[in-house]
Amino acid sequence: MSFSRATFVACIAVVLCSPAALGQKPAPQPWMNPSLDPDARADLMIHEMTLDEKIQLVHGNGWGVLRDGAPVASRHNGGAGFVPGIPRLGLPDINLADSAVGVRMAALNGRYATLLPSVLGMSASWDPDAAFLYGSVIGRELRAQGYNMSIGGGVDLIREPRNGRNFEYASEDPILAGIMVGQLARGVQSNHIMGDIKHYALNDQETGRNTLNAILNLRALRETDLLAFQIAIGLAHPAGVMCSYNRINGDYACENDYTLNQVLKRDWGFKGFVLSDWGGTHSTVKAALAGLDMDQPGDDNFFSDPLKQAVLAGTVPQARLDDMVHRIVRSMFAAGVIDQPPMPRSVVDPFRGRDDAQSIEEESLVLLKNAGGILPLSAAKVRSIAVIGGHADVGVLSGGGSAQVDSPGGNAVDPKMGASVWGKAVYFPSSPLRYIREQAAPDAHIAYDAGTDPAAAAKTAASAQLAIVFVTQWMSEGQDSATLSLPDQQDALVAAVAAANPNTIVVLENGGPVSMPWAANVKGILESWYPGIGGGQAIANILFGRVNPSGKLPVTFAATEADLPHPQVTGLTPRTGNNGADAGGARNQARNFPVDYNVEGMAVGYRWFQEKNKQPLFAFGFGLSYTHFVYSDLGFMRSATIYVTFTLRNTGAQAGDEIAQVYVTLPASAGEPFRKLAGWKRVSLAPGASQTVTIPLDQLCLSIYSPTDDKWTRPAGDFLFEVGGSSAELPLHQTIDLDSARLAAVDLPNK
Ligand code: NOJ
Repeated sequence: MSFSRATFVACIAVVLCSPAALGQKPAPQPWMNPSLDPDARADLMIHEMTLDEKIQLVHGNGWGVLRDGAPVASRHNGGAGFVPGIPRLGLPDINLADSAVGVRMAALNGRYATLLPSVLGMSASWDPDAAFLYGSVIGRELRAQGYNMSIGGGVDLIREPRNGRNFEYASEDPILAGIMVGQLARGVQSNHIMGDIKHYALNDQETGRNTLNAILNLRALRETDLLAFQIAIGLAHPAGVMCSYNRINGDYACENDYTLNQVLKRDWGFKGFVLSDWGGTHSTVKAALAGLDMDQPGDDNFFSDPLKQAVLAGTVPQARLDDMVHRIVRSMFAAGVIDQPPMPRSVVDPFRGRDDAQSIEEESLVLLKNAGGILPLSAAKVRSIAVIGGHADVGVLSGGGSAQVDSPGGNAVDPKMGASVWGKAVYFPSSPLRYIREQAAPDAHIAYDAGTDPAAAAKTAASAQLAIVFVTQWMSEGQDSATLSLPDQQDALVAAVAAANPNTIVVLENGGPVSMPWAANVKGILESWYPGIGGGQAIANILFGRVNPSGKLPVTFAATEADLPHPQVTGLTPRTGNNGADAGGARNQARNFPVDYNVEGMAVGYRWFQEKNKQPLFAFGFGLSYTHFVYSDLGFMRSATIYVTFTLRNTGAQAGDEIAQVYVTLPASAGEPFRKLAGWKRVSLAPGASQTVTIPLDQLCLSIYSPTDDKWTRPAGDFLFEVGGSSAELPLHQTIDLDSARLAAVDLPNK
């Protein structure tokens, strides 16, 4: 082949006139054009990728920091997952961090992260803005720590009140759970962080989670557990959806064609990628064809070379691999992690985080009992208080497992520097005792007793004007509680204190619902959930009335296990371990049993109690205030959607927030003999003020799903609407036939 002079000149010209030689920047790669949409940008980039580069993107890089001795890649940021990027194409690494209630493993990496209240606690605020703020704290701190993807966003329904992870979840009601977690994920993503919703789906107990087969008929599945996911995903458009460990009606969740391909991707139009829970992948071809897009953490080698070979052999079409890669890359463009990568050198602001955590907690505390108006406490009148138990002298409890946030300075009850240990209750340094002391009169006598000996605690209580008992229930991923009872004989402690002092107030720090055999014998009960790093201050602010309580229960509190659809946790044999619960983890791996959720079907939580005519200890939606609200003037309006309107008046002497709730009972033909939450609004009212409240009703709340026709329809007939401040106290009600009723037409936005 001859090399002509013209060719030579042309080559020299290219070299001499290249942008670099001319001192110019090279032309940006075409996918870096931000005016193109994320799908177009992803397609342009993927066109340049080799098969090996594509395979590299669809699996994680191994257990890394999660497993002792596992290799850690050099650009790994120290979180739960790492997927190396493709520098030659300008595609960054994906660094994923567990971040259910704050960023995990921060101290391990020499960093700080804010501990927020539990997700269940935040959900008790029923405040979508608080949920957004919650997510934005997580997103902000992920970004400051150099991560670009969150793997929080738990939205599994609370079907099993003894589930160890209920503190990571939002509610037993799909509408409340879906909206709150959707807003949380929006908050995360508002920081140019890829968000995630998990664990898809029916990961509703920890016992046997790796192998159990969750059984639920398709109508109930779509109207309950999947509805929560549908709402959250529809609101947030998260980058990722994490499929769960368990099986769903036979197939593992990470190779379940129905839930992944048919529902998530086809019916809901999900554009992001499905990533497996860590070790939740069980196959290569089946999982790939069923809709799994990323295998995590990747050590099982399902989506590495075996997937490459399957693509070369044609058992997984090339187009399917391209679809996986497209979903990942388009999500990176859509979230902004390519155009606006995180700034690892910025630092977390602990004070801002603490203030945000406290303000969320102050909306989330639920006052469950206030006999004789014992609360709020008056600093002028209270001369002596016995504060008892719960390590209230040093801090507040947090939840365990992969949602564990590291406590600054180490565990407040056992202060050693370093990271938190799996399997051990961790307290954060926000001492309720300290803030109670701060708010009481300077000369008031505030005694503390650890509560380990009920007789000694009762003696301390007897000598004080009033007693405040802190009780705790530590819960964690990997294990459920065998019972609803508080562990460590704390029921006996409360009973002894209440017998010694008629003015006893109980403050709960717990993962989920607990029974309270002593409820009738105490004057005050305050539910603080896991209250987060501002918990001590928030609790004291409610006790002394600086903040008016306004949270409402996002989950039913049963009086006893006998009232639950499953009186025992399915598959749990009470053995040793915390709370009499299964020790979980590895021992659960061997299990393989059905969990029959058809027992309650659509009647989850409060619906079960109504259908079976059982009285809960505290009803879904219940919570007291220091003021009083009156409901009147129920009405309906219609524009594109249907609205319920009513008047809400604050008849008390102080400002307060009411969470006004609308429930609907569908026509009898629907076969759903219970009321369901259809909408709500959190309303702030000055003393004496009133407001006309208008609440739009989502069509999904008024419809039923038919698996035969694969569609949602609104049944014909009479709908009962009920409005009030709790699922068990609904002063306004009206039955209307939505097809024939003439509803006033209004011009209102749909949301
Ligand atoms: C297993 C947990 O179920 C999941 O929520 C978590 O994100 C991963 N481990 C990674 O830590």
